[in-house]
Amino acid sequence: MNEMIQKKVFPVTGEGYNMPAYEEAYKNFAWEDVEKQFSWHTTNKVNMAYEAIDRHVDTPLKNKTALYYSDASRDEQYTFEELKALSDKFGNVLRKYGIQKGDRVFVFMPRTPELYVSVLGTIKVGAIVGPLFEAFMEGAVRDRLEDSGAVAIITTPALLSRVPVSELPALKHVILFGEDGELAEGQISYEKEMEQASADFEIEWVDREDGLILHYTSGSTGKPKGILHVHNAMIQHYQTAKWVLDLQDSDVYWCTADPGWVTGTSYGIFGPWLNGATNVVRGGRFSPQDWYSTIEKYKVTVWYSAPTAFRMLMGAGDELVKQFDLASLRHVLSVGEPLNPEVVYWGMKVFAKRIHDTWWMTETGGQLICNYATMDVKPGSMGKPFPGIVAAIVDDEGNELPPNRMGNLAIKTGWPSMMRRVWNNPAKYEEYFRLEGWYVSGDSAYMDEDGYFWFQGRVDDVIMTAGERVGPFEVESKLVEHPAVAEAGVIGKPDPVRGEIIKAFIALRDGYEESEELLAEIRQFVKIGLAAHAAPREIEVRDKLPKTRSGKIMRRVLKAWELGLPTGDLSTMED
Ligand code: PRX
Repeated sequence: MNEMIQKKVFPVTGEGYNMPAYEEAYKNFAWEDVEKQFSWHTTNKVNMAYEAIDRHVDTPLKNKTALYYSDASRDEQYTFEELKALSDKFGNVLRKYGIQKGDRVFVFMPRTPELYVSVLGTIKVGAIVGPLFEAFMEGAVRDRLEDSGAVAIITTPALLSRVPVSELPALKHVILFGEDGELAEGQISYEKEMEQASADFEIEWVDREDGLILHYTSGSTGKPKGILHVHNAMIQHYQTAKWVLDLQDSDVYWCTADPGWVTGTSYGIFGPWLNGATNVVRGGRFSPQDWYSTIEKYKVTVWYSAPTAFRMLMGAGDELVKQFDLASLRHVLSVGEPLNPEVVYWGMKVFAKRIHDTWWMTETGGQLICNYATMDVKPGSMGKPFPGIVAAIVDDEGNELPPNRMGNLAIKTGWPSMMRRVWNNPAKYEEYFRLEGWYVSGDSAYMDEDGYFWFQGRVDDVIMTAGERVGPFEVESKLVEHPAVAEAGVIGKPDPVRGEIIKAFIALRDGYEESEELLAEIRQFVKIGLAAHAAPREIEVRDKLPKTRSGKIMRRVLKAWELGLPTGDLSTMED
């Protein structure tokens, strides 16, 4: 099967793209040349929000729509000039409350224009923005605010109950959008402050290595890690959005990711606006009808989404596609999990477009290995390294492996958007760079003889469910907080639509009997404590779980049980 897929190649479809032919682009590329795009090239002082928004106000893009926003009750658009004015005002609001360079400010809101204004305003005062996915529940919110020592949060009355303000001594300000009643002490009204805020604003110029954004992400052990990116990342955001997303002035671009995840900021805010493209943001829940009508309504030309979403659309049937006019689409891309060849074939059939896979991670800040508009696409492959990027498959000692050998997917260190720190956790940061000169991704892959990379899986136990990264440890910790659960082991179980679903194996405490009600209650417990996407879809009760002599649950054995595979070396297992 793999053989067959490899031989099927979808050739380059035409001209008129920003990126030259791949080989040529790769050969002639230098990051230093990209830098010269930006005003800070000469001063070294920079601000991402200036380059993404303010800069365009002195150009013909001034009155161009920067943001289309709609949900069930709102339908709005904002020009670059309007976004500049709003984010300037919000910067003044933050300054009024003493927020300054380096402070951590979290944005915990559903996707609305105010979310984008809050993110930009925070960056404009030089603070580090921490976007939080709106589905996070109290435990997940607390972990992130606590670890980062956040001083302010912008949220809504509906989400406020999940912010344990009294347990967070560093958190001084709660800015509420949509509160029309009484405000409690320490609470600030977004609307009232914006009404009164001055339009005169002086942006905070920072160094290119100063903190920009903090995205928390999961590993296989410990709590989520705060991945810090700096303003310098814009070099990569700009150039990849230009070449990989192929954003041009006339484009209406839709990134379906929420800014709570890195795709929703690197390519939902920075990349497109650095290139002066129009961003579409659609609030509310996913439905195939709604998604197709969003493309139709805005005449979306470039669309960046994820395999799970494509598979759900595929599941909704080809007849549905025909009810919409999707002729505006000219470039379609995917990220976050393996893009099955079937989906690429389906895309060719229903959109007459190749779906271009892109590979990268929260830690890498920007796209690294991709399929390009000007390169043949091999369905099932992630593509080739972006110009300026050296990728390789290495063994556990850091030796490069020849083509078609599976190993660790590694990147030569030093690309512009590489993370600069794991917040409060230098040891975790160092782990990524344990092989001299390489960033070790934690993914396994191989490279074929044409230089295309093929994703094989995670090296660790990190679960990718519906494109969202979940650490088994977090879920296990939450499970054992439930009074009925003695021990828990969590794995990703392969699933045709979601890539993986979360499956938990648990052992019950004495005095508890397995029942459907109990399992539903345990599931709900995780959902309320962490987030809906982190709650196990399946829970299986066992008398005992396989553990090492030091007491670590052996997820590898759980996985083998689940898949009916041999359990392998059990020499470290307790009796
Ligand atoms: O395992 C890889 C998978 O997603 C991981 C990174 O997750 P996250 O930091 O949440 O970022 C997702 C979006 C940037 C990777 O280690 N992954 C990401 N893209 C792909 C992928 N797996 C296969 N193919 C991809 N294109």
